[in-house]
Amino acid sequence: MPVDLAASARIIAAAHRDTPGGLLPALHAVQDALGHVPPAAVPGIAEEFNLSRAEVHGVLTYYHHFRSTAPAPRVLQVCRAEACQAMGADALLAHAQQRLGCGLHGRSADGGVTLEAAYCLGLCASSPAVMLNDEVHARMTPERLDELLGTEVPA
Ligand code: FES
Repeated sequence: MPVDLAASARIIAAAHRDTPGGLLPALHAVQDALGHVPPAAVPGIAEEFNLSRAEVHGVLTYYHHFRSTAPAPRVLQVCRAEACQAMGADALLAHAQQRLGCGLHGRSADGGVTLEAAYCLGLCASSPAVMLNDEVHARMTPERLDELLGTEVPA
């Protein structure tokens, strides 16, 4: 773990130190900037917020949104919330896992895609929905997912 990554995370987090309830926005800011919240950054963030490492770790593990390792160049999120579940999200996720050769929170066999779950992408009326690198796609089918993964240019 490069020391400067943890230092960068601490500097980013410190900007939220004086905000009431600032830990969560701080962790979001770190992940937005670095793609993940490095475990080595936890002690520094804890110090900034006058919390224990365990408290910061508890927040990071409570919210599925936070990653502890850097994601692949492309991140595919398959919505698993209620509306999407009712419209075949489980089958879509199974297809994604088979196609990518990895499980949830894993990387595809070629290392190019990280597979994650999401819990509502705001497209409930057009479910099932997925998000690929911050772009949402509605009414997804296994066939359309194959197209999406096959044609998208890596970031
Ligand atoms: S439940 Fe999937 S987009 Fe809302």
